[in-house]
Amino acid sequence: MYKLEDLGYLYQDLEPYIDTHTMGLHYNKHAKKYLNTLNQLLLENNFDFSLSLVELAQNIDLYSWNNKDEIIFNLGGVINHNLYFHCMNKKKIEVTGELKNDLIKKYGSIDEFIKEFITVSMRLKGSGYTFLELTPSGLEITNYKNQDSPIFSLNVPLFTIDLWEHAYYINYNYDKRKYLENFFEIADFSVANHLYERIKR
Ligand SMILES: [Fe+2]
Repeated sequence: MYKLEDLGYLYQDLEPYIDTHTMGLHYNKHAKKYLNTLNQLLLENNFDFSLSLVELAQNIDLYSWNNKDEIIFNLGGVINHNLYFHCMNKKKIEVTGELKNDLIKKYGSIDEFIKEFITVSMRLKGSGYTFLELTPSGLEITNYKNQDSPIFSLNVPLFTIDLWEHAYYINYNYDKRKYLENFFEIADFSVANHLYERIKR
């Protein structure tokens, strides 16, 4: 059966930007619900859990499933949350290396990249995520609805912010922009840096 990845920090470590209560609910209730539902659905399909979560997403069409839409929704929920939780840390970890160079090439500076990321995020209607993803045509900032994910179209998700209200509403109410601006005070780009370096090598 699949598991949620460890956070690598405590619920309270992201205060005051993400409050302890939100983090606890987000990891232990919301994300865990996707995980438990996914595991249950896969058991009902007699799946042997021989693939990683990412491999399963990339090969989802090779199997015939009962409740395929539900499986995709919950699989996206687990993969997206795993990445999102790794995109935050006790203190911010900046963009470096090849990724930094290519983001500056595309957006002019890292500050401009962050500005554009927030602009794209503000455009998302309803629930979903904004991703920095690597597509065949290069780096893109893209909104995905609900629990859709770049992983299903074989793009590489590098960095994401969860824009479901459960991610911020307790602390920020309707002030999504403030949540986004504050997110970059604790944003951790180490996964993005590492993945991009590996792909570019
Ligand atoms: Fe979430």
